[in-house]
Amino acid sequence: MNKYLQLQMQGDAYLKCVNPKCGLEYPIMSTNVQCENGHVLDVIYKNKPSSNLKETFYQRRNSKGNIFNESGVWRFRDLLNFCQINTEDNDECSKYLVSLDGAEGRQSKPYQMSKAAEFTGINKEGLWLQPEGYNPSGSFKDNGMVTAVTHAKMVGAKKIVCASTGNTSASAGMFAANEGINCDVYIPAGQIAPGKLSQAYQYGAQIIQVEGNFDDALKQSLDDAKNYDGYTVNSVNPFRIEGQKTIPFRALEYLNWESPDWIIYPGGALGNTSSCGKALMELYQWGWIKKIPRIAVINSDGASTLSDLYNGEFEGEELRWNKGNPNTELISRYYNHLDKKGLRPKTKATAIQIGRPANIIKGLRALEFTNGVATTVSDSEMLDGMSVVGLNGFDCEMASGASVAGIKKLMGEGIIKKDDVVVGILTGRQKDAMIPVDYHNNPKNTFANPPKK
Ligand code: F0G
Repeated sequence: MNKYLQLQMQGDAYLKCVNPKCGLEYPIMSTNVQCENGHVLDVIYKNKPSSNLKETFYQRRNSKGNIFNESGVWRFRDLLNFCQINTEDNDECSKYLVSLDGAEGRQSKPYQMSKAAEFTGINKEGLWLQPEGYNPSGSFKDNGMVTAVTHAKMVGAKKIVCASTGNTSASAGMFAANEGINCDVYIPAGQIAPGKLSQAYQYGAQIIQVEGNFDDALKQSLDDAKNYDGYTVNSVNPFRIEGQKTIPFRALEYLNWESPDWIIYPGGALGNTSSCGKALMELYQWGWIKKIPRIAVINSDGASTLSDLYNGEFEGEELRWNKGNPNTELISRYYNHLDKKGLRPKTKATAIQIGRPANIIKGLRALEFTNGVATTVSDSEMLDGMSVVGLNGFDCEMASGASVAGIKKLMGEGIIKKDDVVVGILTGRQKDAMIPVDYHNNPKNTFANPPKK
């Protein structure tokens, strides 16, 4: 029997459908991203990891030349050990774990940014912003791409496939090039930032331009992956979610595993929301954290599916996880309504210009578990959020500005309190150079610093 089959039978990790009525289980080597009834899957670990690992993770920050300790993802490998390897055996790590020489997640941790704190109204000591743009491909995607590509290699995939608003394709292209596997990226034609498109070319990915938006591109890429033997690395892939758990892991570690009051994300396909929810559920279940931080998801005004449905702005019903039985018909009716009215997601923050968040079900579970909230901000609020981050000496893209703008809005509404400890995730680096140039050339903008003549 080959080693993988043995591992599957004896192992600790398996896949399980998130829908409790369905609950179908699959071995870890399964390549289906969804169960046969079309529901998303979770990676489940049977064993409870000891909280002594907190000390191990801390020790690994002195990497001693080990790239898997240097990596901000694999440093936590014991909590995402779906490969079921001996995590202390460097040869096994090298054989299975995909890494860009330890660069993924290495430079991202929460920072205090006083000007952003002043802008949001949160106490200076209480606001932490975590620039995930400082990943090797320039966005948080690298956290989850290393784990997805690790699984792709485990199952012998020859080609990885994704749809993207730009950052996923950059990340997928980078790791595919580094691992010597093929990569097809489906992008909405003319709707992604030039810096992201150029990365896909640079890394040798095959670009497929789709006439339509991200939702159309995702549909086509999932169909093509199924028909032409591609391995999907979008966040519907449960292994993507495993790697992205390390974003809250790093935040929590830097806060000495004391939960903040809030963790804030921009909301697109809701992969981040889902992974943060899963990370917190696991840590709480294992007794590693006592308090559950609340998640706030910030949509753009122009692409506000989650916020509309969660806040009962469509048909008056507030969409909830409802013990695993969310009202999926309400979601379908909302999508039909968008189609009938010809409403297409529209925001200058193209990264989150998404109308049909593929992870909405897991997103709802995350909001339920954390007593979370969803809201929206305008393009101009996002630009202000992005710009104030710049004034602290950090760089982020417009969609990431949603985290800062969202904190300010929720603070103004009295939902977030001045004394709360808040971690905002800055999801990506600036890859559209003209956005800040245009912003600063318009003296009407809050932080504009126009050039002198
Ligand atoms: N921020 C940035 C910079 C992104 O690129 C994305 C998603 C999000 C936020 C939303 O995250 O999907 O986890 O809710 N970008 C995807 C892409 C869709 O294709 O690059 P989410």
